[in-house]
Order: sequence, then C-alpha cells, then structure tokens
Amino acid sequence: MGTRASKVESFLREVETAAEAISRHIDKGSQIKVVTHFDADGLSAGGLIAASLMRGGAVFSVRAERWIDENVIDEVLAARPPLTIFTDFGSGYLNLIERLRGLEVIILDHHQPSGESPEGVLQVNPHLSGIDGATEISGAGVAYLTARALSRENRDLAYLGVVGALADQQDKFENRSLGGVNELIVKDAVEAGTLKVETDLLLFGRETRPIHKALASTLEPFIPGVSGEEDKSLALLLSLGIKPKEKDRWRALRDLSKDEKRKLFSELASILAANTDQKDAAMTLIGTVYTLCREEPWTSLRDAREFASLLNATGRMEKPGLGIAICAGDRSAALKEAEEVLQTYRKTILRYMRWISETPTSLEEFEGFYLLHGGEVISERMIGTVSNIAIRSLPRNDKPLIAYSFVKDEGIVKVSARGTPKTVKRGINLGKLMKETAERLSGLGGGHDIAAGAQVPRGKLGEFIEALKKELPKGGRE
Ligand code: C5P
Ligand code: C5P
Ligand code: ZN
Repeated sequence: MGTRASKVESFLREVETAAEAISRHIDKGSQIKVVTHFDADGLSAGGLIAASLMRGGAVFSVRAERWIDENVIDEVLAARPPLTIFTDFGSGYLNLIERLRGLEVIILDHHQPSGESPEGVLQVNPHLSGIDGATEISGAGVAYLTARALSRENRDLAYLGVVGALADQQDKFENRSLGGVNELIVKDAVEAGTLKVETDLLLFGRETRPIHKALASTLEPFIPGVSGEEDKSLALLLSLGIKPKEKDRWRALRDLSKDEKRKLFSELASILAANTDQKDAAMTLIGTVYTLCREEPWTSLRDAREFASLLNATGRMEKPGLGIAICAGDRSAALKEAEEVLQTYRKTILRYMRWISETPTSLEEFEGFYLLHGGEVISERMIGTVSNIAIRSLPRNDKPLIAYSFVKDEGIVKVSARGTPKTVKRGINLGKLMKETAERLSGLGGGHDIAAGAQVPRGKLGEFIEALKKELPKGGRE
C-alpha cells in the first residue's frame, strides 16, 4: 500500500479534511456533539477536542460512554446536532452509526474499521491508510492531529496524544518507547516544551514522591507485596540497605545512586520472576519515562503514565467529567477531586487483584486461552483495567486472557479480551474474534488485535465461551 511516508501523508490528508469540516461548523455556530470512549485514551481524545473547540469559540457538549450501542445512537438522534464527532470509538460500529443518516458525523478513531463509511460519515482512521492503530497511534493521537490541523495554537495539546498512547499501552517499541506516528506527536510535545523523555525505572513520582510511596503506587506491572503496600515497600527498602530518608527529607527515586537503583531493580525483578514465568516481566520495570514538565512535580499529572491512570480512574469510577475537565485545562477543583478518585480506584484494583490471587477458581486455563470469571465480583467498568494487569502475570504469554463480568440490571455480560505481542504473532486477532462471536450471539464486540471487548446477553455466556474454545487455537511454545 505504498511507502511508509506516503501512508502517513494519506492519513494526514484525511485529518485535514476532518479539520476543515469541523472549522466550517465552528464558523456557522453549529451545536457540536462530541461522544467519546470513557477510558483514559477516550477521555484524552474527548478532552483534547473539547479544548480546541473551546479555543475556537464553538458551541459544543462532550459525553463519555462505556461503548457504542443502540441507546447511544438514540440519544444522538434525539438531539439531532448538526455535527457529531465520535472519538476513540466508532469505526467498529459503522452499521449502528448508519442510523444517523442525514446528520453529519466525523469519526476520529484507531480501532479496526468494520467496513465502508456510510454516506455523510467522515472517518479518520490510521488503518484506512495502512497504519496500525493498535501500536502506532491512539484515539487521542488522531484527535491531536485533527486539533493541530484546526489551529497551530493547539500544538501545546500534543502531550495529551502522548498520554492517550501510553494509556493504550502503545509503548511497545525499544525501551518501552512510543513509535510510528506517535513519534511525530512526541516530537511536537517536546518542541512545545511540555514533555521530557528519559530512560529510568518506571515508578510513578520519581522526582518527588518518597520511594516507598512510588513503589506502592505502581500497579502495572503488579508486584506482589509491593503494589499497594506502603509499609511493606518501606520494609523492603530497609532490608536492601537503602535509606528512605536523608536527614529529615524523604528521598525520591532520583536521589538514589546507580548502585542503589540496581539493587532495587534486581529485587523487584526477582519478585516478579518468582510470581510468573514470563521472562520479560522484569523488563517492563525499566524504560522510557515521559515527564510532563509543565505539571506540578508532586501531582499525579507529572508522569504521563500516571496521568493516564488518573484519567482511567475518573472514567471507570463514573466521574468522566473530571477527566475531561483536566484535559481541557482545569488544574484546580477537578484535579483535587480526581486525585481522590485515583486513590479509590487504586484500592479497588488492589481488592480485585487480592481476590483473584486468593480465589484459585477465578482463573481457568483452557488449551487456547485463560478465562477470568469476574462474574458478580468485578465491576463491569473495571474488568478491562483488571485484565490489563492480569494478562501480565499469567503463567504463559502465548495465550490470550478472556475476562467477563455481569452488568447489573441490564441482563448482559461485559467481556474483555487481552493478548500479547506473541498472541498477535500467532495470528490471533481478538477484535475480529470478539466482533464475530458476539454478533452471532446477538451481542456487540470489536477492538484491536491485541485488546478487544464485547457485550453479550447473559444467557449466551456459556455458548460464547464454547465458541471461543473452538475458535482459539491451542497455545504452543516456540
Ligand atoms: O478503546 P481503546 O483503544 O482506548 O482501549 C484499548 C485498551 O486496550 C486499553 O485498555 C489498553 O490498555 C488495552 N491494550 C492492551 N495491550 C495493548 C494495547 C492496548 O491491553 N498492547
Ligand atoms: O472494554 P475493554 O477495555 O476490554 O476494551 C478493549 C478494547 O476493545 C477497547 O479498545 C474498546 O474500545 C474495544 N471494544 C470494542 N467493542 C466493545 C467492547 C470493547 O470495540 N463492544
Ligand atoms: Zn484508544
């Protein structure tokens, strides 16, 4: 499909077309409705568009949703806005969006497209230009490029494209860095003076947070006995002969000597090695650190990965408005409340991770996949996040993880599927699998090859799992 440069060029042309259409609506003073996914990438994307619409003086509203279904489309139909912009979802649900015929729609997405764009729908999606949306650009990245095309002034929002890409775990390049089109966005953010890129241990708050607190707030990777455990983390430091305090001041990661850092890393690596046989688990502890240098050093916004966790927390704990406000520039009341939500979110994750490790029946292994029975225990809004963490501590990394949770009062089951670079290499496309299997059972599904999801009627869960047993090939070590 042409050279790499020509793919990016063709993609940027689509971006321009979308920006022109948005500009026309801003000039006309049309009511613009933005509908975005409620996870961290979705909130970065929605917040980014909100910030640029605000700057442009547009009349607009933003809504965050768990997924696109008939109800979401009905709501748009009821409001009949002259322009609807879907961010970080839409491409997988073109058949539903087709119901908006007669209204103008722009989709800014990076999920695998489900077909041709219906009439009146402008779809900006890297996959359509031969660029991989799972690894090279996020929903927030697509939104950023569009905002940049709307006005050069929006270059200072590039950092949100970085946050979205890290939220979607696109840091799969050398040293856990971002690559592909994301590199362009990183470059813009660095040039705008909002981002600093370095290599170090990937603990949150490395510049200012006491080390034991930085250790305890690290949940990905999940380090048993360290993640969520401030007291035990402090004891661990003491046992390694690392002084947590210098005179009266707590030391931060940046205050440690090379030797102390090495000691700490090898201890964490051996804890990880003892708890999984994934050889590369320890390597996820070191890598490229993305520091947002305009943010206050002691906040959860300073480290771009932690910023992503904070956004995820607001979306998954039913406060997406806080996340969108922060992306749109609010650093006062919204940030304070979001920091509290982040604490609750961390505790919730910890509770679920404990439950999984204390409940052997929660995880079942089949020939082709692992099945996590979240059922009534894990909230449907959290099952995706729990799956992101759980996939890293499975005994083998050549089989995907399928997790499910019951959606209270709606008679449906939420499914989250997560793979690894190995499952992708083995040819497993979870997005396609979720879509096809769910649709056969009157549900909805889709996503990326490496991470996908579905909703199916509760009564069809058994059939759904049986279908996966047939479809997913047996795992095999290379
Ligand atoms: O809807 P969206 O694309 O933003 O969500 C992607 C989801 O898939 C995120 O929860 C992200 O963490 C997850 N993911 C993953 N592994 C990858 C890529 C994405 O678990 N390699
Ligand atoms: O919900 P979860 O975090 O498991 O979603 C993983 C990925 O699959 C996300 O990118 C999400 O947008 C996508 N997804 C989808 N259709 C669904 C559920 C999830 O495209 N019905
Ligand atoms: Zn995304």
